[in-house]
Amino acid sequence: MKITIVSASTRIERETHKVVLGLSKKITLTDGLDPLILDLKEAKLPMFTEIMSKLPEPDARINDVYEKLNSADALLFVSPEYNGSYSAPLKNMVDFYPKSTFYRKAIGIVTVSSGPLGGMRAAMQLQQFILALGAITCPQMLLVPTVQNKFDSLGELTDESFTKSIDLFLKEFIWLANALKNAK
Ligand SMILES: Cc1cc2nc3c(=O)[nH]c(=O)nc-3n(C[C@H](O)[C@H](O)[C@H](O)COP(=O)(O)O)c2cc1C
Repeated sequence: MKITIVSASTRIERETHKVVLGLSKKITLTDGLDPLILDLKEAKLPMFTEIMSKLPEPDARINDVYEKLNSADALLFVSPEYNGSYSAPLKNMVDFYPKSTFYRKAIGIVTVSSGPLGGMRAAMQLQQFILALGAITCPQMLLVPTVQNKFDSLGELTDESFTKSIDLFLKEFIWLANALKNAK
């Protein structure tokens, strides 16, 4: 099973990437999988101008991100909540690619905020967005409130009380990802 984790915060002092590192470690330790991290800060995709297949010139950055998305059996979208929604770089990324990149794949939703609600509004919008891609989202989501108190810079969990939420989410996400992969 190939899982790609999309790290969707490109902010200079971002907290979201710590969550990505933590989830990647946990998936490796618990499920023996080796997830790929697609960091949108490093990917440096251009601003959307046209879908990939219609671009006048090939772009290595766009092609590289495509490979990481398309080769995955399942994806995790890990996004901060900005102004009540998911991050603009995440939307910008998706718009380049054909629906076949996402079709019938499990996509898990993880949202992050510095406040108490963990990006609930972004999570609800991601559900709609993911369905529009022909993908299937996991009913169990992971909302990470007060993220600044949850993980250190290496992605180690600093708040043990959050372990249960992560474990429950990953159990449901991996189950769905396996079920959809086996159904193909
Ligand atoms: C432009 C901007 C808008 C934000 N809007 C919200 C918001 O609507 N709700 C919320 O809970 N936090 C909001 N925040 C705070 C984020 O939750 C905070 O940045 C958090 O650390 C997660 O994102 P990060 O990866 O940028 O650190 C906002 C932050 C920025 C920079």
